[in-house]
Amino acid sequence: MTEPTTIKTGSSEKAYTTLPGTVGPEVVDIRKFYADTGMFTYDPGFTSTASCQSAITYIDGDAGILLHRGYPIDQLAEQSSFMEVSYLLLHGDLPSATELKDFSWTISRHTMVHEQLSTFYRGFRRDAHPMAILCGVVGALSSFYHDSTDITDPKQRMIASHRLIAKMPTLVAMAHKYSVGQPFLYPQNDLSYTGNFLRMTFGVPAEPYEVNPIIEAAMDKIFILHADHEQNASTSTVRLAGSSGANPFACMAAGIACLWGPAHGGANEAALNMLREIGDVKRIPEYIARAKDKNDPFRLMGFGHRVYKNFDPRAKVMKATADEVLKELNITDPVLDVAKELEHIALNDPYFIEKKLYPNVDFYSGVILNAIGFPTEMFTALFALARTVGWVAQWNEMISDPEQKIGRPRQLYVGQTARDYMPVSSRIG
Ligand code: ACO
Repeated sequence: MTEPTTIKTGSSEKAYTTLPGTVGPEVVDIRKFYADTGMFTYDPGFTSTASCQSAITYIDGDAGILLHRGYPIDQLAEQSSFMEVSYLLLHGDLPSATELKDFSWTISRHTMVHEQLSTFYRGFRRDAHPMAILCGVVGALSSFYHDSTDITDPKQRMIASHRLIAKMPTLVAMAHKYSVGQPFLYPQNDLSYTGNFLRMTFGVPAEPYEVNPIIEAAMDKIFILHADHEQNASTSTVRLAGSSGANPFACMAAGIACLWGPAHGGANEAALNMLREIGDVKRIPEYIARAKDKNDPFRLMGFGHRVYKNFDPRAKVMKATADEVLKELNITDPVLDVAKELEHIALNDPYFIEKKLYPNVDFYSGVILNAIGFPTEMFTALFALARTVGWVAQWNEMISDPEQKIGRPRQLYVGQTARDYMPVSSRIG
């Protein structure tokens, strides 16, 4: 039995239950705090606040540990597949061989999108950012699939989840095809989830497309590394949107909007752009100096993390994958040399050591995606594709949680106190 926590406010003291997790820090249950004290707690950015209980993903940021349903991310990345990890996140355990076959088959049956959806793409400018397109078309799915939107029915929730996991590769590939002016390719379901995506992105109807198994495996690994990351900004957005009972497809569009930001999923694009801008190892000291300068808003993109104050375990796998892919494609990319040297210099610099700033998952992913042939603007869209499974798993968990409530934070009001309205003719100035 865990000792209650006593909180002293002014002259009064109240005891609050401390809830233990299976692993990780305990949390103080402050649900009655306002009723007891008439005060709110203040925590911008939720740095000390657990917004829910979850059994999906565990992170120990100080130790650099990331577990999905208890399994370490490096084991999953090295030994599993994105389909298997998707099943694991959604259902809680690794699938048996039959369960995996059935799950993969089910996902492959949902890969096509309604034909009418392709007309939505034509409304976008050719140079629209793929994340702008995805916000629109994923939200638009809510107007197509009315038979999977009763969120109180677990079966309908699962159908909506399967649809989202299956259709994201098609929608992301279509966003790419639209930007380069090539025809959309229909899915080909005898290919793997990831092979199918590569073909829809890089294939053309005029020629057969052969999936390179090394690129397919690397891409699958990248998807695994991005599949879920507990209550990050976009997942919390999906949960918050979903907490009102909103349409699942619309909730995912909200997650995509949040992921787009450069402090979150947009960092992979920003990291590669930064590495290209640095261009030469000789210029690294200049950029390190800028990152340390309080008066310069520049930050080393792909460095630092809200939770990891030690090496991001995903970055280690990503670095090794970058080497593999570049070797397979016989590419020598000076950007990789800049990345390695920048990492080396930053990890030995007192500023980065003191602030515990390490490379995050986005630092090396851009180098790999660039080598495979994705334009930089597509990077965050690929992140969204992979994170969709995390979003639907967390959304399902939230809706089946009996303690779930509509998300409704409070505030510290610092505006005007009450004042009387004055007609415009009486206002001075
Ligand atoms: N370069 C230089 N300094 C940095 C960096 C960086 N990349 N990241 C943090 N710092 C410094 C801050 O200036 C701050 O210094 P101060 O204490 O002197 O004010 C200190 O380190 C703490 O930084 P915060 O911004 O308070 O940390 P927070 O947890 O809020 O931010 C974040 C985390 C947003 C990821 C931040 O490290 C950052 O902007 N990194 C670059 C963007 C990036 O790579 N984002 C991807 C995150 S991973 C993902 O979403 C998949």
